Amino acid sequence: MKSYNWGIIGPGKIAHYFANDLKLVSPPQKITAVLSDREKSLNDFAGEFAVKKRFLNLDDFVHQSKVDIAYIATPHTLHYEAIKACLKNKIAVLCEKPIVLNREQFLEIQQLSKTNQTFLMEGMWIRFLPDIKKLLEFVSEKRIGNIMSLKASISFKAPCDDDNRYYDPEKGGGSLLDLGVYCVFLSTLVLGKPSLVKAVGNLSGKNIDEASAILLSHDDGSYAMLESSLQIKHNRPAEIFGTDGVIRLLDPWFEKSPGIEIEMDKGKKDTIFFTWEGHGLQFEIEEVVQCVSQQKTESGLMPHALSKMILEITDEIRDQVGVFYPEYE
Ligand SMILES: NC(=O)c1ccc[n+]([C@@H]2O[C@H](COP(=O)([O-])OP(=O)(O)OC[C@H]3O[C@@H](n4cnc5c(N)ncnc54)[C@H](OP(=O)(O)O)[C@@H]3O)[C@@H](O)[C@H]2O)c1
Repeated sequence: MKSYNWGIIGPGKIAHYFANDLKLVSPPQKITAVLSDREKSLNDFAGEFAVKKRFLNLDDFVHQSKVDIAYIATPHTLHYEAIKACLKNKIAVLCEKPIVLNREQFLEIQQLSKTNQTFLMEGMWIRFLPDIKKLLEFVSEKRIGNIMSLKASISFKAPCDDDNRYYDPEKGGGSLLDLGVYCVFLSTLVLGKPSLVKAVGNLSGKNIDEASAILLSHDDGSYAMLESSLQIKHNRPAEIFGTDGVIRLLDPWFEKSPGIEIEMDKGKKDTIFFTWEGHGLQFEIEEVVQCVSQQKTESGLMPHALSKMILEITDEIRDQVGVFYPEYE
């Protein structure tokens, strides 16, 4: 694998974890440019990670930074413009989830990736974790028989003030796009495309979903029950039920997974533990580096079709719950 020059767009919370995990990849990857909208965050990040090229403007970043790969970690509503600018300038893109706001925006960036023969991937980091790999192995080996249903929920008591992105429609706020996308991702990964989507939610005064409850059903009779919330705190496993047993991802959204459990109806129970250094973002970084060095435009593990399917589902959920981002869609 090669050591690439990375540019960071949006040096906030997750970008700090990402910058640290870049050092864990072999060979270590270099951050050579950073872009922010505010001088203070730009200089703080550049100082901490010894980044030479600093930009306050997207246009200058794409034309002058000479980076090979951009990692985009701005608030969701800004992903679309940043992705387009990078792809048009043949800068490979790893963009945080949700990659863009809706299917229509996705079709446009997918086409740009194709036309410019430039790599594009959604940073659905859990896709690359060892416990998800183990889950897929168990499912394909039919270790719990035929998969019948999946239960997943994710919640976090978000600070309810105008300064944070969770409640701010300008920043693509709401529990679904911030948290629920992980549950939708897990369901599509295991059960595929649903034939029916049903959702209800609680809307804030600014029309973002403080909580969403979702049912997905499939032609083969399998279904998923999903939930996201900014109002409660809980720590539940994600559970995948089969005709012969259940698989539990014990804390599926946490950066240090406590493992995966498989329990057979006949009583046998095993837990498999995984440990790793850092935040766990190095696994997605390795995939990007490998794909870019092989001149691919998409990853086989987190392909464009999967990101598109997730957005088709979140579009439908937002329609039913009543969440819109009028400034950006
Ligand atoms: N936090 C997590 O654990 C996590 C996990 C996975 C994915 N994500 C995703 O990552 C994205 C960012 O989340 P976060 O929690 O890291 O948010 P955050 O801490 O608010 O960071 C966002 C960063 O983007 C910068 N920014 C804002 N507008 C910009 C612009 N026009 N151009 C360039 N930079 C700009 C902000 O600068 P200022 O600081 O100056 O405002 C800030 O540094 C979201 O899409 C989220 O879904 C986050």
